[in-house]
Amino acid sequence: MAEINVGLIGQGFMGRSHSNAWGQVNRYCNPAINPVMHTVAGLPGEDVEGFAKRWGWQNPSTDWKATIANPEIGLVDIVTPNFMHMPPAVAALEAGKPVACEKPIAGTLSDARQMAKLAEEKGLPTFVWFNYRRAPAVAFAHKLIKSGELGRILHVRARYLQDWAGEDVPMAWRFKKELAGSGAHGDLNAHIVDITRFVAGVEVEEICGAYAETLIKQRKVLVGGTGAGISQDELIKAGANSGDKYEDVTVDDTVAFLVRYTNGAVGTYEAARQATGHKNDNTFEINGTKGSLRFSFERMNELEYYDARLPQGVQGWSTILCTNASSHPYVANYWPDGHLIGYEHCFISQALDICNVLAGKEAVVPLPSFNDAYQTQRVLEAAMLAATEKRFVKMEEVF
Ligand SMILES: NC(=O)c1ccc[n+]([C@@H]2O[C@H](COP(=O)([O-])OP(=O)(O)OC[C@H]3O[C@@H](n4cnc5c(N)ncnc54)[C@H](O)[C@@H]3O)[C@@H](O)[C@H]2O)c1
Repeated sequence: MAEINVGLIGQGFMGRSHSNAWGQVNRYCNPAINPVMHTVAGLPGEDVEGFAKRWGWQNPSTDWKATIANPEIGLVDIVTPNFMHMPPAVAALEAGKPVACEKPIAGTLSDARQMAKLAEEKGLPTFVWFNYRRAPAVAFAHKLIKSGELGRILHVRARYLQDWAGEDVPMAWRFKKELAGSGAHGDLNAHIVDITRFVAGVEVEEICGAYAETLIKQRKVLVGGTGAGISQDELIKAGANSGDKYEDVTVDDTVAFLVRYTNGAVGTYEAARQATGHKNDNTFEINGTKGSLRFSFERMNELEYYDARLPQGVQGWSTILCTNASSHPYVANYWPDGHLIGYEHCFISQALDICNVLAGKEAVVPLPSFNDAYQTQRVLEAAMLAATEKRFVKMEEVF
């Protein structure tokens, strides 16, 4: 069996999630090429050795440049804060290596454009971890719409709401424009713009109004840590134990916008990180002439379906448990029918598709490339422009 050595850059929340995926994919699935957990690169001061030992990486490193340059590394996987996506991605592409990178593809549109351009020039495979595409219910929704089951798409409604970023949560890279690029917008709207483009097959033509607000204007400076990869409770405790110095938040907390798509359909998007009661509420609803679909990640194994072709008296929303191995994408890799899967399986399934594509096979459902993620980033940029300039923005203005 062919193998590919993976070099992981970063070891926070996504560092754990990707380590789990690279470690599990050979066990659950049967990728055409086996990923080998060669090197993880963290920051000096982080316990990289402990991380490598715990998650099964052969080599810990605090030098991401040397990790990428190592001729033994065949695939570079980037899980650093957004401003630190472009430098390792460029280094990897220049070294002739395929790259997998976390979302949003970059902190700025300019970085995203350069990454997409370089990937195209080099002709190398690139992948962006819009992992929610690989929830079986979402992949199934994509297939249903592609096969025409919903007819013509008329409405798209998407929201991604969380509530972890209350006023007790201290400062971290996610609240700083120079490190994150934006707040809830790049973090959450990036996912739902990607998911709606993927599932409904729609492309934004124009942003028809938007708002962006920073609701909590200052946060306590965190003393003795970066806040990387830790839970909300731990963050709040760390904040309470820090001094009383505050810094300005320089990103949005919430962004909403309206769009018209190239096919004439209309859509709404909303992202927030202080929507009390919403934990990881990544939700979309798509209405077509023949039916509708509804999904929320908080019930990720379910897809709601309304078939308007049934006799009127029996029409109604049905809830499909997407755990059938012969009908629902990816399910056959995991447990017997009806045994639910979780967040981490989306990443394992993406690792599977990446390995298969690198071996010349097809992904179960399309993987987002750097160019794909750049197109999503253009939509985010256009929405921000609409919010700051308080006007409609055509996509052709933004590139
Ligand atoms: N796909 C998803 O569902 C999802 C979820 C969360 C985060 N993300 C994305 O993953 C990326 C990382 O987020 P996270 O939550 O894991 O962050 P995190 O803060 O938990 O971890 C970031 C890690 O990056 C490394 N790092 C930080 N600064 C660095 C620097 N200057 N140079 C080199 N390495 C550095 C460190 O090892 C750190 O542990 C972000 O782009 C984020 O948007 C995606």
